[in-house]
Amino acid sequence: MIEQENRHGARRLNEPSGVALTLTYEGNPIPAYRGDTVATALLAAGVRVFKITEVAGEPRAGFCYSGRCSDCLMIIDGQANRRACVTPVEDGMDVRIQHGLGAAEREVQS
Ligand code: FES
Repeated sequence: MIEQENRHGARRLNEPSGVALTLTYEGNPIPAYRGDTVATALLAAGVRVFKITEVAGEPRAGFCYSGRCSDCLMIIDGQANRRACVTPVEDGMDVRIQHGLGAAEREVQS
């Protein structure tokens, strides 16, 4: 059975056939499947904020989905500036919204 649409209207087009995994987004469990990227799992779950832009403070959830922009930069397992669109999900991953330039920005400001 194909997953039902979530409240954001997101759904998978095909029934997932891979091994079920779980990542956490801001501490909340998100279902995923082996072979998903972090972006795929988050979008399918209705997540629409991957990063907050450094200048305007606006939310982003990816743009190119091919590893060529910076709109999907997230903090993954404590490491800033990882591209969610090209990072394969691993079971138990800790995924967090990146604010601005990530860890380096916070180090400079402190
Ligand atoms: S969406 Fe552009 S690099 Fe990930």
